[in-house]
Amino acid sequence: MKLIKILLASSLAFVSLSANDVMQKSMSIMEKGMTQIQQGFLNNNLELVKEGTKLVKEGNALFSDKKIITEYLPENKKHMVNVAENASKRIALDIAGLEANIENKAFINATNSYSDMLNACSSCHSIVRNW
Ligand code: HEC
Repeated sequence: MKLIKILLASSLAFVSLSANDVMQKSMSIMEKGMTQIQQGFLNNNLELVKEGTKLVKEGNALFSDKKIITEYLPENKKHMVNVAENASKRIALDIAGLEANIENKAFINATNSYSDMLNACSSCHSIVRNW
């Protein structure tokens, strides 16, 4: 009986872990990407900026669907899903802007795209975290 309870408890824990997976995967990919972009700009390493941008794009794509975003909003914030979704759209636009700016060697503008992206991360986190 005890064993069954333990098995049940661990399988339930597994279910909630895998439900958390999309968010954690997306966020850790984006965190890595943002760090690389920052390092790239600081060290004048454009390859690193480009690699980081790809990562943020990949991570953002995982967490851009309204249904998925809603799952992770606290009960009292679910009505703000459109604002949260806009943060994800803003990241997608900033990525496009950053890539175009790099292409055109407009590096100051590219760093501005990066800053705006970071602000977009915070604008969604502020909803989730009651900041
Ligand atoms: C649409 C909403 C949204 C956007 C945009 C967003 N995040 Fe998150 N982020 C979340 C949620 C939800 C959590 C989990 C709750 C928490 O940590 O408060 C989270 C947590 C995190 C965490 C902690 C991860 C963990 O396992 O607890 C990191 C790191 C993170 N985000 C990085 C980023 C970065 C970098 C960006 C921007 C490139 C970003 N996020 C943009 C919603 C978002």
